[in-house]
Amino acid sequence: GVYSFEDSPFIMEVLTELRDRNTDSIAFRKGLVKLGRYMGYELTKTMEVEEVEVETPLEKTKGVVVKDRRNVVIITVLRAAIPLMEGLIKVFEHARVGVVSASRGKAPKFEIEMNYIKIPDLKPEDTVIVADPMIATGSTLIKVLEEIEKYGKPKRTIVLGVLAAPEGISRIKEQFPEVEIFVAKVDRELDEKGYILPGLGDAGDRAFG
Ligand code: PRP
Repeated sequence: GVYSFEDSPFIMEVLTELRDRNTDSIAFRKGLVKLGRYMGYELTKTMEVEEVEVETPLEKTKGVVVKDRRNVVIITVLRAAIPLMEGLIKVFEHARVGVVSASRGKAPKFEIEMNYIKIPDLKPEDTVIVADPMIATGSTLIKVLEEIEKYGKPKRTIVLGVLAAPEGISRIKEQFPEVEIFVAKVDRELDEKGYILPGLGDAGDRAFG
């Protein structure tokens, strides 16, 4: 299914700041880093946990290890996912990182060009987190997911975004029913140029100019 973080007041406050047209690129990047960190933290709640024994300086007691946290692969979709990845890696500090470039052509075809692809081999115990702040038509992620499939079959594939349009989500789900989508919020619709409404504008441009 699709999971949104609308019930998290903090994540919604950061999203509000990102939407604000008066937010400059420094604050915009910081907002994306925050979302990476806190949405990553929320993701750990869906991960496998193992009970362990720990010795305090005084006695033995029970503790936990979030097993999956050690087997994370983050795939960064340039450009806008860079700050999101920076936040995610604070939670998944063991993560291996892949980088792909995908630029979207103009309406009505929105054809995707991928010029740079560097993805580590994927193991059966891996949780792959594909970071891309905006899921508009979904074309970018479909291309990226098709590419990722060539590198192995992980335990879970998660798409982590900030905003998604319903159209993009249905297209991804249709082709990749097993992929889990986590976003801060699902927005209303796409306009004819392929922008999410009400959205936050072009995330890559707002973060990097
Ligand atoms: C944006 C965004 C996504 C893509 C979403 O990237 O960051 O990657 O568009 O659109 P889609 O779902 O319709 O494919 P953009 O092409 O603007 O590149 P940039 O991040 O480098 O600015």
